[in-house]
Amino acid sequence: MIKLRDYAIADTERFAELANNENVSRYLIYTFPYPYTRQDAAQWIATGARANNAVTQAIEYRGEFVGTIGITPQTGWKAHSAEIGYWIGEEYWGRGIATAALRAMSETAFSTLGYKRLFAPVLGPNKASMRVLEKCGYSLEGILKREVSKDGSYYDGHYYARLG
Ligand SMILES: CC(C)(COP(=O)(O)OP(=O)(O)OC[C@H]1O[C@@H](n2cnc3c(N)ncnc32)[C@H](O)[C@@H]1OP(=O)(O)O)[C@@H](O)C(=O)NCCC(=O)NCCS
Repeated sequence: MIKLRDYAIADTERFAELANNENVSRYLIYTFPYPYTRQDAAQWIATGARANNAVTQAIEYRGEFVGTIGITPQTGWKAHSAEIGYWIGEEYWGRGIATAALRAMSETAFSTLGYKRLFAPVLGPNKASMRVLEKCGYSLEGILKREVSKDGSYYDGHYYARLG
């Protein structure tokens, strides 16, 4: 149904189009800009996707670029652990794409890359993402009250994790 692959320069235009959407960026980390420009996409594809040793992949659905998924390794005594994050262009929501991508990436992270723990912090209102994590075998470990603030609102961090 989906394929995970490395980014291509040719993804830049579509990446920027899909990322430049407040419904996509609303509950993502504050460093994900809005508005999202072609230059932001170009920079992400050139270097950002690999910052902090991250492994980030393009999600392809029926031959088209539709979103991204990536893991960021932790360090020191948490080096067996990685944070996982993803987004899908809004026009592709509700087709099981994030679930398929998270399943595939989790499998790679555990079986090929050898991680023992994957985790995802999800902001309180982001119920769709929590559902995706649950469908992929992640459990809610805890809630950090008012953990972050973004655009004038405070959000609880819901920490989901799965062990490999
Ligand atoms: C969250 C996101 C990745 C989901 O992608 P998707 O491809 O639509 O996800 P799927 O189709 O695989 O699954 C979505 C599930 O959430 C459910 N869902 C959708 N909206 C929901 C809501 N408001 N409340 C509860 N469940 C909801 C769907 O019904 C579906 O579950 P089901 O299969 O049991 O019916 C997508 O909405 C997105 O990119 N959001 C913006 C970026 C983001 O928030 N990323 C995650 C950061 S932690």
